[in-house]
Amino acid sequence: MPITWSPETREFHLHNDLISYVMRAHENGALGHLHFGAALAADRSHAHIETPPFTGFSNRVGDPVALEYPTTGSGDYRIPALTVELADGSTVLELVYLEHRIVAGKPARAPDDRLPATYVESDDEADTLEVVLGDALSGLRVELTTTIFRDRPVIARSARIRNEGPSAVRLTAAMSATLDLPDARWELVQLSGAWARENHVVTSPLRPGRQSVGSDRGTSSAMHNPFIALRRSTTTEDEGEAYAFSLVYSGNFIAEAEVDPFDTARVRIGISPNTFAWTLEPGATFATPEAILVYSDAGLGAMSDALHGLFRERLARGTWRDAPRPVLLNNWEATHFDFDEVKLLEMATSARDLGVELFVLDDGWFGERDSDDSSLGDWFVDRRKLPNGLDGLAGEVKGLGMRFGLWIEPEMVSERSRLFADHPDWAIGVPGRSRTESRQQLVLDMSRTEVVDHLFGVLSDVFSSAPISYVKWDMNRTITEPFSPGLPADRQGEFFHRYVLGVYDLYARLGAAFPGILFESCASGGGRFDPGMLAFAPQVWTSDDTDAIERLKIQWGTSLAYPLSSMGAHVAAVPNHQTGRITPLATRAAVAFFGVFGYELDPTALSEGDRRAIAGQVDFYKTHRDLFQRGRFVRLRSPFGDGGNQTAWAVVAPDASRAIVGYYLTLNRPVPAADRLRLRGLDPSRAYRVTGWPEDDGDALFRANTGVRGGDELMGVGLSIGADRDEAGAWGDFRAWLFVLEAVE
Ligand code: GLA
Repeated sequence: MPITWSPETREFHLHNDLISYVMRAHENGALGHLHFGAALAADRSHAHIETPPFTGFSNRVGDPVALEYPTTGSGDYRIPALTVELADGSTVLELVYLEHRIVAGKPARAPDDRLPATYVESDDEADTLEVVLGDALSGLRVELTTTIFRDRPVIARSARIRNEGPSAVRLTAAMSATLDLPDARWELVQLSGAWARENHVVTSPLRPGRQSVGSDRGTSSAMHNPFIALRRSTTTEDEGEAYAFSLVYSGNFIAEAEVDPFDTARVRIGISPNTFAWTLEPGATFATPEAILVYSDAGLGAMSDALHGLFRERLARGTWRDAPRPVLLNNWEATHFDFDEVKLLEMATSARDLGVELFVLDDGWFGERDSDDSSLGDWFVDRRKLPNGLDGLAGEVKGLGMRFGLWIEPEMVSERSRLFADHPDWAIGVPGRSRTESRQQLVLDMSRTEVVDHLFGVLSDVFSSAPISYVKWDMNRTITEPFSPGLPADRQGEFFHRYVLGVYDLYARLGAAFPGILFESCASGGGRFDPGMLAFAPQVWTSDDTDAIERLKIQWGTSLAYPLSSMGAHVAAVPNHQTGRITPLATRAAVAFFGVFGYELDPTALSEGDRRAIAGQVDFYKTHRDLFQRGRFVRLRSPFGDGGNQTAWAVVAPDASRAIVGYYLTLNRPVPAADRLRLRGLDPSRAYRVTGWPEDDGDALFRANTGVRGGDELMGVGLSIGADRDEAGAWGDFRAWLFVLEAVE
């Protein structure tokens, strides 16, 4: 049994071969935290593990203070898990252990939670501990749920807070998880950026005080992903300790670390307390989102492996979870709003001839949307552009042997729309105040059931009106003037969370009604790329930035937490729409292969040479699709290191029988330095046939590295990438080389 409870020492030990998580109900009743990290013997007590000294009043030094769910007001001044206002206005709680339950598997969340979570398919995949803590005076109960997965270095943690007292309680912070660590010699890794520059890796040493990332915009945001990691300064991709903290949530969040005067560290992750307050009437329960905690003693690579496996296999769900994802063509960058059925069918036909499997019609098919200043909310087809309706167009596309996909942005409304004329009060805003517009649109109040019900109705009509097998669900602005007339004055603090619950509700209902549809989430690219969304949409449009060189950083950073099967990656035309950069077509493909592959260009405008090249790219991706979408992603050389001129990564088959290595050189340099790229994850006892892509016999790097090579050599010596590139085959900037490795018998 991977969870043991020892009544003598009052210890809980959650363990598998990779990790241990140890808690203890101390003599004073507090639920203390003893250890999360390396696997420890299950048949031994660890109650003696010293918890760090207290940082509050001197008369309390020595109390056990590494806590599982810390509160405020009793001398622990570090970042808390839970803050409240009780009926008398006081804010102090004394949570003590009351009871616990150990269950096989991972119980589904209560249906009224409406929150996504990881899951198991059979009870032997995980075990779950539920510990109930209580505050006697107020009657508040906290049920902490901790799941350990059998084969993963992963803990899932969430809390349910129930008011069993006689008076209402106001929650002002309710974290999903906190973790007390016995030292602070860590570096904080965050994924930060902006629109078109998402998920850049930023690393800084922990220092005394608080360091946090978060979002108060209504979405998890492009500015900071709901993920942080801690690493030692010596940790590499394949060695050393790392912790990951990830939140299965798509709204306002905080991920924060605090170093106290004794140089211990506390980490917390959960809904942002800046924009949150929740009133619990007697008998009511509040459920936090789920936090995912990973411990790795084998570097950042193993940390990412754990998250990738969990998110791909036990967070994503439905028909498309394991199915090969189709190669798509999206018309957005090619046409923007300027298209008609004839143009679209020309593009689709041309793409079909290149091997593309899915044609996606992006923004502009509905209402009278000729630019971005109208029609959001009017989800009926624009017959001026599509005289035969969606059905006519989708039928033709289907007739070409392709699937048909459609863009929607359900959470939005344009002021110039029928929906706004009919329901101006459905747009978020404070009565009497002006509303801040962004991209000339407003956000619908998803906290109101009538809004969600309406959207479910109109979108169901759209989805059943034509053979639609893919939907890109966009969300192009964040929330301002947060307020809902549907909530009483003293509950406006619930607005942001209720918004997210409304979005989840709509996703869940549409997903259940249309199980065949592959959803791709999007928020101006990666503005809502988070585990909450992955539970409904297994892939995400990673960034509006389609420039191959920018994508190296974006996809590298995103891969710290998210699997390649979740990352939409497309080849776009040049000069690139976001940067104006001109990169070789092969480089654009060589970057986009490492994700869910597609095109974002007008195939009818291509030269014959480019068409031949693209047909070859599509064919190459299809041949290796399982590897790109389900292989192990191995980061080899970071675009964030050493001036960022080189990037290298690989995908490796689970049985190490095949691999594809990508090596990218941003700016060429004469007289290149001697250099070798050591691979990882191969079988040292096997030999591999190494071939190059794109095929080019004249290329010096391919000449130096193709042929049969031992796995031992490829990992111990490496590919030679310092060869003289001063030849026609590899001339210029923004170059990419792929090495395809196949084990030979
Ligand atoms: C957002 C998306 C783009 C595209 C446009 C359409 O910016 O990220 O991919 O769909 O909206 O308006």
